[in-house]
Amino acid sequence: MKWKLATVFLGASLALAACGGGDDNAGEQNGGNNGGGDTTAAAEQVYQQSCASCHGQDLSGGVGPNLQKVGSKYSADEIKEVIAKGRGSMPGGIIQGEDADKVAEWLAAKK
Ligand code: HEC
Repeated sequence: MKWKLATVFLGASLALAACGGGDDNAGEQNGGNNGGGDTTAAAEQVYQQSCASCHGQDLSGGVGPNLQKVGSKYSADEIKEVIAKGRGSMPGGIIQGEDADKVAEWLAAKK
């Protein structure tokens, strides 16, 4: 009888431990999304870090022009080129590779 009780106890604490682990994983997954799992969130993060100082946190412009409808003016490839080569007083190559691709595609969807 005692042994059975102990088993039930053990089972319950294992179930609790499993639950806790599940919650931890969910938290990590959300963190991962911000870091690169979810393209939109990652692109926006890169934009905020590298572009918002000139183009505004809400893309409304500042030193640089408004980008809220930049996607109706340029394709992702054209935006990639602006990012790579710069334009006017905007320096080229602020972001590169995958970051540049993601931000260009994210901006190209702003129409
Ligand atoms: C130092 C300030 C500065 C930073 C940082 C900056 N830009 Fe610019 N950006 C400008 C300026 C100024 C222009 C306008 C250049 C011109 O046409 O003479 C511009 C133009 C652009 C254009 C063309 C817009 C249009 O309507 O012609 C795009 C697209 C763009 N920037 C994207 C970005 C992205 C993406 C980033 C981040 C990687 C970024 N910019 C970072 C200043 C900046």
